[in-house]
Amino acid sequence: ATGDMKRPTQLNFTAVAHYTGNDMMVADGYNAEAILHVGTPFMSGIEDWKDNREQTGESFQYRMGDNHDGMWFFGKNGEKYDPKSSNNALLVMNHEYTNETINPAGTFSTPNPDTTAPAIFKNIRKATDVRRECYAHGVSVVEMKRRANGVGYEMVKDSKFNKRYTSASEVKLSGPAAGSDLLKTKYDPTGTKTRGINNQCGAGLSPWGTYLTTEENFLNVFARGADKAIISAKEDTSRVRYGLPENGLGGGYLWHTPSKVDEKFTDEFARWNSAATGGNALEDYRNAFNTFGYIVEIDPFNQSAMAVKRTALGRFAHENCAYAPVVEGKPVVMYMGDDARGEYIYKFVSDAKWSNADIGGGLKAGDKYLDKGTLYVAVFKDDGTGEWKALTHGQGALTNANAKYAFADQADVLIHARLAGDALGATKMDRPEWVSVSPVTGEVYVTLTNNSNRTPTKHGMNAANPRNYAGDKGNRNGHIIRWAEKGNDHTATSFNWDIYLFAAPNDLTAENLSGLNANNDLSSPDGLYFDPRGVLWIQTDDGAYTSKTNCMLLAALPGKVNDGKEVTTSAGIKTRVGMQANDQNIKRFFVGPKGCEVTGITLTPDFKTLFINIQHPGEDQPGVTWGAISGGTTPRSATVMITKKDGGVILGESLK
Ligand code: FEO
Ligand code: CA
Ligand code: CA
Ligand code: CA
Repeated sequence: ATGDMKRPTQLNFTAVAHYTGNDMMVADGYNAEAILHVGTPFMSGIEDWKDNREQTGESFQYRMGDNHDGMWFFGKNGEKYDPKSSNNALLVMNHEYTNETINPAGTFSTPNPDTTAPAIFKNIRKATDVRRECYAHGVSVVEMKRRANGVGYEMVKDSKFNKRYTSASEVKLSGPAAGSDLLKTKYDPTGTKTRGINNQCGAGLSPWGTYLTTEENFLNVFARGADKAIISAKEDTSRVRYGLPENGLGGGYLWHTPSKVDEKFTDEFARWNSAATGGNALEDYRNAFNTFGYIVEIDPFNQSAMAVKRTALGRFAHENCAYAPVVEGKPVVMYMGDDARGEYIYKFVSDAKWSNADIGGGLKAGDKYLDKGTLYVAVFKDDGTGEWKALTHGQGALTNANAKYAFADQADVLIHARLAGDALGATKMDRPEWVSVSPVTGEVYVTLTNNSNRTPTKHGMNAANPRNYAGDKGNRNGHIIRWAEKGNDHTATSFNWDIYLFAAPNDLTAENLSGLNANNDLSSPDGLYFDPRGVLWIQTDDGAYTSKTNCMLLAALPGKVNDGKEVTTSAGIKTRVGMQANDQNIKRFFVGPKGCEVTGITLTPDFKTLFINIQHPGEDQPGVTWGAISGGTTPRSATVMITKKDGGVILGESLK
């Protein structure tokens, strides 16, 4: 059962070599098998995926979405959550974004025949293609059962638990910002509901057994017309800070454009244009943008409930979230990162004290622990200490008297968390991706994937982000930072930190400060997961090293903060690093197909099946057909099940 498995004393497998082919490579002694590809129907009566990609958008309510990302395996017993069950489960996963893979070729955008249309309607799309993308975003819940031969799992088609949450689903807004004027739209004048979840990136599990899915690049699907003369200066500042200036097109998805060419689609598609059109906020979608960028809670065992956006955890480009080990009678603590260049690391400390009786408590437990508490942002100091600053309205700079950004109330602080972080002097990080907490040491690890704005003149240099992107190639490869809360108390407001490892190709001597070799060199760490034994799994999403190897999954057995030595980076910055050249406790376990990102990870309670996701195989790499249907050519994202050939525990001692 979970929890009583000891951490292996060594990584007893042979490292997988660099690989640039179209298959996947896993360590000797293991099997890897792809399942649940994009478009796989989970209900009868839905046609199979077609390689010409002409299936209807609405059908994605009953099939796997695109670009699989974070996921979690929820053990199931009867109809209830059972964290110890491995035979039967609900596998819940994110579908982060869409690209041409799910659309018929050549349908991305066309010039608007109306050449007098406003700037944001210069190029337009068809409703049917936008709808397909809208329904292929979000989350899938699928029931899985162990195969009859005992190896791996198969989907239970037509299970009543199989369900999609998409960018068209109605979602509840909860917590301190719910009901705020800043969240009121034509869709919901009460500011307590919105339509859609978007760009779900990493995954989190709550201590009570719900799925926490994160809205990251929600900017992608929004546009904003000309409205500077109508909205407040504060809201304009915020739109710009979150990447959506006036006449901005976000990520260029153009989901708002069918509204321009066909009036009958006005509300379905106009809501992606987050511009004020005159009148007041209840007559347009100026606030729709404010209703995205949250941690979203889903109870996979309660198919009739709406997903809930938890505003107390702040609004930003959430990557994932991880809870600190819970202690009866102590607050629940969640760690989170904002993945954009120079953004911040946060933690949330609930007001409610943990009770083991809440396991299986669903969204009611979520209401108890995630709607009231204190959100903090991290300051990393060059001396190896750090501080948590509270995002609490009325304290310090977070008042109406702040001359730069006046904060009216707690909803204002949470919805504009980035502005609040600025006001508190938080440390700009090199793109915080996944966070995970070690069950062995209680220390918190965050991947900092890379940052092209890390230069002395843009974000400035500091000991926590010590490599200059312009000055050397090291910073292109990212690093992993970690900290120990004061007194090992996760509610503390100070901590000690160091850098666990610097990612680098092994031939980059100046920046290979962790002494990585051909068995473990990596670039752009992203997915990160401590399994319950304390094995650290690291996944990569790399654009800097793919000429030498495709993206990968590594296993590591890290030490503790301050067990390393002082180093000086080629940018001349002194810092401390744990992972050393003589430390062999990290090895490459798996390499994915060309052009993919390896992301999402969950281990079954019996430790015998490791699920990971292969996202966007063949991206920008013509000729890759990994994941295509038999006879087809379109590569598809999919879930991969890794099992040990001898039927044993993943990384178990039996291989010795
Ligand atoms: Fe969706 Fe920051 O990765
Ligand atoms: Ca990621
Ligand atoms: Ca990434
Ligand atoms: Ca990705």
